[in-house]
Amino acid sequence: MIEVEQLSKSYGPREAIKNLSFQIEKGEVVGFLGPNGAGKSTTMNILSCIMPASSGTAKICGFDVFEQALEIRKLIGYLPETPPLYSDMVVYDYLSFAARLRNVPLKNTQSAVEQVIEKCSLKEARERIIGRLSKGYQQRVGIAQAMVHNPDILILDEPTIGLDPIQIIEIRKLIQELALSHTIILSSHILPEITQICKRVIIISDGQIAAVDSLDALTTRLHKGERLLLEVRQNSSEILEKLRALKKVNAVTEHQPAHFTIDCEPNADIQDKIAQLSLDNKWGIVELKPVSMTLEDIFLKLTLEENKVQQ
Ligand SMILES: Nc1ncnc2c1ncn2[C@@H]1O[C@H](COP(=O)(O)OP(=O)(O)O)[C@@H](O)[C@H]1O
Ligand SMILES: [Mg+2]
Repeated sequence: MIEVEQLSKSYGPREAIKNLSFQIEKGEVVGFLGPNGAGKSTTMNILSCIMPASSGTAKICGFDVFEQALEIRKLIGYLPETPPLYSDMVVYDYLSFAARLRNVPLKNTQSAVEQVIEKCSLKEARERIIGRLSKGYQQRVGIAQAMVHNPDILILDEPTIGLDPIQIIEIRKLIQELALSHTIILSSHILPEITQICKRVIIISDGQIAAVDSLDALTTRLHKGERLLLEVRQNSSEILEKLRALKKVNAVTEHQPAHFTIDCEPNADIQDKIAQLSLDNKWGIVELKPVSMTLEDIFLKLTLEENKVQQ
């Protein structure tokens, strides 16, 4: 449904995104995860036809974002990082205005607005002035304006930024409901947000894709085996030393007495060696197992690796 190939964008000499390529299928809920300045908003602005890329192509349902922007705008609803709200307008009037801007026929405007008011739980706020609403309600109005023309795809740029914890939970719940009937791209620099809402994640770091995968696959497949957990019966100070001296071992920490975390190179396959070492030294293995890293570890690792490549 969304096909992005070799997309790049420079602001003057500064390359904000470099050769991004990814696909998103109909019905998917995909998270753009990356630290501030990674290029998430730039990518979303290009997909939403707000600005052109410097090179590469992006297609939505076969339409090119550069050449067929009018078609694309019918298909997508966009919530930019700063919602385009008129603070002195009443919610209902603003949404009617947004509907007219999106070419909703006049005779359908009222029902379109009623529908988004219902979907975004804005009933109590419909006659209120936007500027006097809480940030959480304003964000709902922002989402409502993005979907007033009933688009198939929603592009939401950091939809929970600046909200308090209760508002965050409410907006996440709303997005989860919308995910049942829309294809959604959501950006965030916060991991739990992505893990709660999205099935697949595109990790973007310094304008480049560091990883694209399902959340499950990312946490297990990518890095399983790189971290081992060793628990022994006999604790001694030489254990750390001996483990660290093993080939392909990057780091060893004793996270609690006689429990060691061993980080090794990818596909190091050194469990046998560790087991042998324990036997030879009579440490008494209680447990030796690979652990999958948390998404947070992977995120940090990938983004740091990315930086390493840059240097
Ligand atoms: N209008 C602009 N002019 C110049 N540089 C920009 C502009 N917008 C973004 N950038 C730069 O491009 C990079 C990517 O920014 P952005 O897409 O906003 O990242 P994110 O949304 O992931 O925080 C950053 O280094 C940012 O400073
Ligand atoms: Mg941004």
